[in-house]
Amino acid sequence: MQTLILGIESSCDETAAAVVESGREIRSSIVASQLATHAKYGGVVPELASREHLRAIVPVVRQALALAEITLDQLNAIAVTAGPGLVGSLLVGVTYAKALCFAQQLPLVAVNHVEGHIHSVLLDNPDLAFPALALVVSGGHTHLFEVRGLGEYRLLGKTRDDAAGEAYDKVAKLLGYGYPGGPIIDRLAAYGNPRGVKFTLAKMKGNELDFSFSGLKTAVLRWTEQHDLSEEIAARKQLVNPAFEDWLATTPSQTLDLLASFQFTVIEELLRRAVLSAEQIGAESVIVAGGVACNQGLRTQAARAKDLNFFFPSPGLSTDNAAMIAAAAFPKFQRREFSGFDLKAQASLVLA
Ligand code: KG4
Ligand code: ZN
Repeated sequence: MQTLILGIESSCDETAAAVVESGREIRSSIVASQLATHAKYGGVVPELASREHLRAIVPVVRQALALAEITLDQLNAIAVTAGPGLVGSLLVGVTYAKALCFAQQLPLVAVNHVEGHIHSVLLDNPDLAFPALALVVSGGHTHLFEVRGLGEYRLLGKTRDDAAGEAYDKVAKLLGYGYPGGPIIDRLAAYGNPRGVKFTLAKMKGNELDFSFSGLKTAVLRWTEQHDLSEEIAARKQLVNPAFEDWLATTPSQTLDLLASFQFTVIEELLRRAVLSAEQIGAESVIVAGGVACNQGLRTQAARAKDLNFFFPSPGLSTDNAAMIAAAAFPKFQRREFSGFDLKAQASLVLA
């Protein structure tokens, strides 16, 4: 029998809804991005995010149902991201999901956003072999998990300061590029020399599988001060609706080298620990998920690690979406792990 789950995601700056059949087939996936709202501030403004979610949630859910050609009464359950994320943003999705479940008398399934990202890969690769190592790397998280099976997670390491995506966004902001910075730096990095600027890798005391990106961010800042980039930064800030060609045209070769070297160092940090932890747990597969999983340099480098099987999400599923939430909810639905109407939005919800 088919199980139709409506997923709702509003943890950060995307309002998303999707209908997924039996945890496998995406019947619809709608993402309303708030990029235009936050871009001029160089990052997500929590108050604006909540307001935009309120505006978008009803039409986005309606569109997801219409595209899947179903009505609410054909659903078997509603899944919602309960955390981690911005509490005001999470609340919009959680409250709306509860209201729909109450009105339709449907079970409510709470999903951890990070688990959702892991399922963005499992969705396309249902036969992926366990145990797996999962590297979840986005604007809000940089986590390594051992995944022994569906729903069985053990946290192995995480960032002690900035998430990798956050480091990309902060470096981009510092250098006068747009938001989010990850995709722009990724493309520009291809034009620079990754060994042009020497950055040192972070040495972690204690858990060697933890990450740190704040030192690298500070090193970029120091380099920028020493090389006086004020003119080119000012020129980039003048650009109106810039296309990639405009970013490229306003980036001299020494700055391209800086970006390529920054990206090279981030990838080294990520892959070094992913490979080490995959070896430690005897992983059959390595899952890379979250917005930074879009990174071309990371994908290319991972492909060179011959003795590990890397799995990345398809591009539309890398960044925040609700299909991954509905997919993560399916095994919970099968185990009847339902939430009551006392479900709370939890900004710091942890997985495992
Ligand atoms: O998963 P996501 O949509 O939202 C969070 O849960 O944070 O990830 C967004 C993050 C941003 O920091 C963005 O700069 C980064 O993912 N990102 C990238 C790339 N595409 C998106 N970082 C590096 N390279 C990319 N190609
Ligand atoms: Zn995310």
